[in-house]
Amino acid sequence: MTERETQNQNGPEQSGAPAGHASFPPERMGEEQFLRQILVRAQMSEFAQDPFIMSRAKGVHYWDVHGKKYLDGISGIYVVSVGHSNRRVMDAIRKQMEVLHFSPTMHGSNPLALELANRLVAVAPGDLDAVKFLSGGSEATEAAITMARQYHRLSGNPTKYKIISRYQSWHGSTMGSLSASGLTSRRSMREPLAPGFIHVFPPTCYRCPFGMEYRDCGILCAKLVGDVIENEGPDTVAAVIVEPIGHTGGIIEPTEEYLPLLREICDRHNVLLIFDEIITGMGRTGQMFAADTFGVLPDLLCVGKGLSGGYAPLSALLCRRHIADTFWGDPATNPGFVAGHTFEGNPISCVAGLATLSEILERDLCGNARSVGAHLRRGLEGLRRHGIIGDIRGRGLFLGMEFVRNPETKEPFSDRISIGKRIGKRALEHGLLTRFDPNWIALGPPLILTAEEADQIVEILDRSIGEVLEELEESE
Ligand SMILES: Cc1ncc(COP(=O)(O)O)c(C=O)c1O
Repeated sequence: MTERETQNQNGPEQSGAPAGHASFPPERMGEEQFLRQILVRAQMSEFAQDPFIMSRAKGVHYWDVHGKKYLDGISGIYVVSVGHSNRRVMDAIRKQMEVLHFSPTMHGSNPLALELANRLVAVAPGDLDAVKFLSGGSEATEAAITMARQYHRLSGNPTKYKIISRYQSWHGSTMGSLSASGLTSRRSMREPLAPGFIHVFPPTCYRCPFGMEYRDCGILCAKLVGDVIENEGPDTVAAVIVEPIGHTGGIIEPTEEYLPLLREICDRHNVLLIFDEIITGMGRTGQMFAADTFGVLPDLLCVGKGLSGGYAPLSALLCRRHIADTFWGDPATNPGFVAGHTFEGNPISCVAGLATLSEILERDLCGNARSVGAHLRRGLEGLRRHGIIGDIRGRGLFLGMEFVRNPETKEPFSDRISIGKRIGKRALEHGLLTRFDPNWIALGPPLILTAEEADQIVEILDRSIGEVLEELEESE
């Protein structure tokens, strides 16, 4: 038996969870042979050593193929906004299956896509009132980039094509979204990437890339975006794309002035501001969009992950009225926004999106993200007593902790120790799913999380940190 098998034998009978898929590996094949047939996101040999395979889920919990139960501290990966096995969403999908599961996307749309667009526009800030549906986050950010370029071309500025984005960011795996991404570890393997993308430093105030202190710095990282636009030539720059709260850099939370300043700079140079809200959208930061949380209206807004709660692949690109209007006109000279995908706005995904949105609104899950998020944060603050938490960042139910050897001096742990990964892995052994990196851990549990479940998350992290520190002491 593997470690996971022995640790928790909570089968479906005891747990009340729906029965999942049966035997792993199947009797006809050995485990390694079976696993070699799939490529997952992780390093394959590492994955095969102790394969993490989910079988069923309910509420805020998963069960793996061996019956071990996990508290889902990360909503799958910021996706399962309204929880697992949500009755309303499942029933809506089942009903829609009987009526229409696919409509001809080359020729038009379907009532579910139209209704969801209408309802999204109603909850979106400002005049973000046209919606392009897609199937995943990368498609949405890719569409935002192409829409920005096409918008400028159609509005008489055909030389504006450059995209400014930030180091440490993640916008997706397709060539355009990857070229915009600033995560060296994921970019370098696939270089050369597309030309026309320029990177700037994000507002990592805890470790300012310019060695400055917040407020004394005059928000240099935002101002430099203006300098970059001026040096590149404003007539060549199409858009700036940012995650309002950066994820992959370790939950990069902007200061209050940062996003308003970017807005001002973009307006000054007729550059579109794109918010990648693939993670932060749909209530995660305590408002429907981080644009609301920070009070800044982007020109284009990408939303995905939590939009359909993970019940079907769905993402969307919202754009402001003046941008949407450029795609109307004489078909002889204006092709419309032809960038599209076969599965865009399919009825099953859209009905999942509609039911998910109803759940978020009617159960006030934005409010829950604020209140339980504040409770969770207080719990995490208590973990500072371990003496290795340098910073706690984030909003609502999107929180992260950066670990350091010395919180006074911010001295990091050595790479060899990979403290965040160790703690994250230990938490996983104790039945808590988080997002972990060498120096940080992030949490993004379903928006239905209760205060008691938040306490369980903190309790498992507390135990995990304590155990890892004990081990480190013994080995040093
Ligand atoms: C901020 C952000 N943008 C875009 C993406 C890409 O989304 P997808 O993996 O659905 O293509 C991700 C995925 O993690 C993301 O976190």
